Amino acid sequence: TYVVTDACIRCKYMDCVEVCPVDCFYEGSNMLVIHPDECIDCGVCEPECPAEAIKPDTEPGLEQWLDVNAEYAAKWPNITVKREAPKDADDWQGVEGKFEKFFS
Ligand code: SF4
Ligand code: F3S
Repeated sequence: TYVVTDACIRCKYMDCVEVCPVDCFYEGSNMLVIHPDECIDCGVCEPECPAEAIKPDTEPGLEQWLDVNAEYAAKWPNITVKREAPKDADDWQGVEGKFEKFFS
């Protein structure tokens, strides 16, 4: 599966939802997640994200993010249509330590 990582937090560009063939993105207030059981590993979303937030879970160190994706995909609503990104999305691109912004 592919996972959305903390680079998405507060950026939330939503380009990813437009290309997913199985509509497996789920929306929280500050980021999206991928449902690990629904993702077919096609990889088309990875290059679409301007924040480079989407990674294959085969990359080392992503266990925490796989857990976050699995947990919140089960709680958050499905999203299939891109909307306008947050006005300050570009200010958050590449910022480190965004996990603390996850719920704010
Ligand atoms: Fe959707 Fe493919 Fe990305 Fe998985 S890898 S979330 S199926 S676009
Ligand atoms: Fe997030 Fe990138 Fe999608 S910033 S909403 S994973 S396009």
